[in-house]
Amino acid sequence: MKFHVFVFVGVVHFLSLSSGKAVYGNGVSQRTFQEIKEGIACYGDAAKAIINLAVYGKAQNRSYERLALLVDTVGPRLSGSKSLEKAIQIMHQNLQEDGLENVHLEPVKIPHWERGEGSAVMLEPRIHKMAVLGLGSSIGTPPEGITAEVLVVTSFDELRRRAPEARGKIVVYNQPYTNYSRAVQYRVQGAVEAAKVGALASLIRSVASFSIY
Ligand SMILES: *[C@@H]1O[C@H](CO)[C@@H](O)[C@H](O)[C@H]1NC(C)=O
Ligand SMILES: *[C@@H]1O[C@H](CO)[C@@H](O)[C@H](O)[C@H]1NC(C)=O
Repeated sequence: MKFHVFVFVGVVHFLSLSSGKAVYGNGVSQRTFQEIKEGIACYGDAAKAIINLAVYGKAQNRSYERLALLVDTVGPRLSGSKSLEKAIQIMHQNLQEDGLENVHLEPVKIPHWERGEGSAVMLEPRIHKMAVLGLGSSIGTPPEGITAEVLVVTSFDELRRRAPEARGKIVVYNQPYTNYSRAVQYRVQGAVEAAKVGALASLIRSVASFSIY
């Protein structure tokens, strides 16, 4: 099988992503369940008031309605995009209208990445155009794209076992979907692991139990 991958990325800024990484395991509190229970007991009334406001009171449906407005009118909100700016303005206005104190905006620097155009075509054993989407922060191919054989693997273990076969190829991850936290590792680490074994590019199936395509 041969694939031609053409991913053109308009503007790419490479920034360290480490500051945005979720912390699993380490930062977890060592307090016992009993200690936590005692520590938060005094917030019971405040929590009840918030829940009542959101579920039965003046703010009933507000979260859903605001989310619907964002999704319908703003759409995807990649960091540094015009639509994120629009979303921030809407939220700023909403919070002011709610009468919250100290609602203000501050200028910040954030990573900015634009998707550009992307396409993938299987050349052998037959021509087949595929629907692809560049993952956020992907590095673009050269303008002429990348044409290479693919190596299909179902796990990082298989990739490491077959490392000598991966050099110069496009690694295709066909990981089984067990649960999101397991499967999403291929989205997060797939390109890096493919690069470590000398692959030219990597593709990954959607991180979902079901695909309509
Ligand atoms: C919230 O949505 C429900 C279901 O659509 C509706 O019955 C209810 O009247 C809404 N509440 C408010 C305050 O708009
Ligand atoms: C996800 O599935 C893996 C097995 O594939 C399992 O080891 C892990 O505990 C599961 N994680 C969650 C959060 O269910």
